Amino acid sequence: MNANLSAFTMRRRTLNWKAVKLYDEVMRVLTFGNEALRQKSEPVENIDGEIESLLAGMFKILERHKGVGLAAVQIGIPRRFFITRIGNDAPRVFINPLIIETSGELADYEEGCLSLPGVWGQIMRPKMVRLQARNEKGKLLTIDADGILARVIQHECDHLDGTLFIDKLSALKRERLLNKYEKLKTKK
Ligand code: NI
Repeated sequence: MNANLSAFTMRRRTLNWKAVKLYDEVMRVLTFGNEALRQKSEPVENIDGEIESLLAGMFKILERHKGVGLAAVQIGIPRRFFITRIGNDAPRVFINPLIIETSGELADYEEGCLSLPGVWGQIMRPKMVRLQARNEKGKLLTIDADGILARVIQHECDHLDGTLFIDKLSALKRERLLNKYEKLKTKK
């Protein structure tokens, strides 16, 4: 997920298409229109060296793109894991995540996605979530998340089921956003 962090004392990062292209040569972030983003990811069976290398690469991509979250399926690996790094927070790894509880209270927040660079949309989601996931060491954790972390977790969990944030917009808003996205793509 690529978020507007202005509310969290960080300015919105501008998209660097050159950086996107450079990293794409090594580990490509799939963008909207690629059907691989729509597949349902499969559980991770072993947290092995392969997962470790993928995680290292994913953190590099996240840093390069100034994102806050990235799911494995976004780099073409349909396995159930994602990473987050929000502001000065420690980087986090979520493997085989399962949301077990969500708050009744909802929050409105502007979301973006590294698979749809350059566009953002207001999305309503539960304000808090409780989930279970394994970390990079395989330890099963129960995590209570609030604020932007809760938001990113929900956005990334959606990726694991082939859902994108634009799916949550009204048809009209989605069309408007996709038109803008197409224009940005042809302009670069
Ligand atoms: Ni995303």
